[in-house]
Amino acid sequence: MKNVLITGGAGFIGANFAHYIIKNNPDYEITIIDNLGYAGNIGSIKSIEDKIDFVKGDISDIELMDSLIEKNDAVVHFAAESHNDNSLISPWPFVQSNILGTYSVLEGVRKHKKRLHHISTDEVFGDLELNETSKFNENTPYNPSSPYSSTKAGSDHLVRAWVRSFGVEATISNCSNNYGPYQHVEKFIPRQITNILSGIKPKLYGTGEQVRDWIHVDDHNSAVALILEKGKIGETYLIGADGEKNNKDVIEMILSTMGKSSNDYEHVKDRPGHDMRYAIDSSKLQKELRWTPIYKDFEKGLEQTIDWYTKNQEWWKPQKDETEAKYKKAGQ
Ligand code: NAD
Ligand code: DAU
Repeated sequence: MKNVLITGGAGFIGANFAHYIIKNNPDYEITIIDNLGYAGNIGSIKSIEDKIDFVKGDISDIELMDSLIEKNDAVVHFAAESHNDNSLISPWPFVQSNILGTYSVLEGVRKHKKRLHHISTDEVFGDLELNETSKFNENTPYNPSSPYSSTKAGSDHLVRAWVRSFGVEATISNCSNNYGPYQHVEKFIPRQITNILSGIKPKLYGTGEQVRDWIHVDDHNSAVALILEKGKIGETYLIGADGEKNNKDVIEMILSTMGKSSNDYEHVKDRPGHDMRYAIDSSKLQKELRWTPIYKDFEKGLEQTIDWYTKNQEWWKPQKDETEAKYKKAGQ
């Protein structure tokens, strides 16, 4: 497999995937399609621009996707509207990109008989109780809470149906919360780091007792690359690195790592329908494909991420004011 089409490759995880592949699989030819919506940033792939082909376009454009898929051997499908808070204000773009966009990708790989890896999220399973030890696994029933997670769940169902009904050669992965460079400042960790760098107090939703299972984006992407090469067609793999932390602890960790008092943050309005806890059991991926994460120390990964945002202010500053204005309007 040589020619790989990455959808959403100007976004956080897709851009990091392109960097990862260029470093680790130099025999791959990469094409990226991204519509450069608010979350797409061409600056995230600038340093590799001479090693990739970039197409500005929308994945729901069936003719465009058909022609791009025809020219490639495989599609890694990251493109999606990805932010829960936005989906609570305006769900339509989520239906459009996540459902109709995935339909268009599926019709392309069906017609041209190409390999697909579909990127999804642990949020399709809903949430877990705080006071239990169970984790999501490949057999956990779907029970999404938000417009975002329900459209991702819908996209997973479409992929499974195209595998079973039309013999499409696809795999799916559901990953937990990613952190690392090139993540939009609307997301929890970069928002707090860039708030501190901008002289704004970090913002914690509600009590901050909600738990997320953090994984470094490079660990997510090493798993995706492995599934693309060795994953069994039709299978789903859960990706996670045992990184459970509650939001209050993470905000305090960011503050103290950045030399601030750990209680120097504000409580703001909680997210409606806020999922309490996510946790991934990735033993299938570890046993069957022999995957292991590299970033086992969250504090170290967080320090590197803080360092990246500190040194790359020209990357995030243009997004910051608009993002904070949107949050202010929502009381967050
Ligand atoms: P992101 O919002 O940073 O990037 C998404 C990219 O897709 C953007 O560049 C955007 O411009 C592009 N895009 C959106 N709609 C498009 C369309 N219709 N046509 C073309 N391009 C379009 O999101 P991310 O965090 O990088 O997430 C990537 C994928 O990984 C998503 O499918 C998301 O559901 C999944 N995921 C994310 C996380 C996480 O923690 N961020 C965890 C698990 C799974
Ligand atoms: O679990 C995987 C999912 O992780 C992905 O599918 C999503 O694309 C990705 O955005 C992420 O979803 P979350 O909603 O968990 O991530 P977010 O960064 O928005 O928020 C993480 C937690 O932090 C959540 O409990 C809400 C809280 N939060 C968020 C923001 C932006 C705050 O307390 N303060 C904030 O300012």
